[in-house]
Amino acid sequence: MKKIGLYYNFDTVKTKRVANKIKEAFENSGEYEIVAVDVDEKLTEEQFMEYDYMLLGAATWMDGELPYYWDEFVPAMEDLDMNGKHIAIFGLGDQKNGTENFQDAIGLLGYLLEDRGAKLYGFTNTEGYEFEESYGVRDDKFMGLSIDIENQAALTDERIEAWVKQLQEEGF
Ligand SMILES: Cc1cc2nc3c(=O)[nH]c(=O)nc-3n(C[C@H](O)[C@H](O)[C@H](O)COP(=O)(O)O)c2cc1C
Repeated sequence: MKKIGLYYNFDTVKTKRVANKIKEAFENSGEYEIVAVDVDEKLTEEQFMEYDYMLLGAATWMDGELPYYWDEFVPAMEDLDMNGKHIAIFGLGDQKNGTENFQDAIGLLGYLLEDRGAKLYGFTNTEGYEFEESYGVRDDKFMGLSIDIENQAALTDERIEAWVKQLQEEGF
């Protein structure tokens, strides 16, 4: 059974809901054990480095910023060697109200960790979304899963199902 660390802030509402659905989808396959880790001020580098396969959840806040709980951990991440780490990021954003910074958090975490040696998985098509700009898009693909509960809640479950299947096919 493959163990995966699922990192998100337990006090969020929407991010937590998406995280739980992702956990369920992985566990339904019977091949994975998902261990949730709270990203808050108590998160240690040791906890962050515990798993080689990592799912990271981050909403985009305030014109393209990371939520404070990830932002506070950025200085620690800047010093980490992420070689050998396999990372898939799921983002939450609002393509209407955040149209110039849609899902920037995916890119903020993605580039930071990739620059330190991590391998990113689960890039997805931008078709079906309407927005101006995103730091979370590279070569026309989101650098992870893009969830928009404000405008496209009805698509959330199928997007998660497809993403988890894709990750399994990518060998995650
Ligand atoms: C003050 C505020 C600023 C936001 N800024 C952005 C943004 O710049 N880009 C974006 O894609 N979404 C933006 N959003 C949308 C959030 O990412 C979205 O509501 C998300 O579902 C929040 O998840 P959470 O409640 O788990 O943190 C913003 C939301 C709020 C409330």
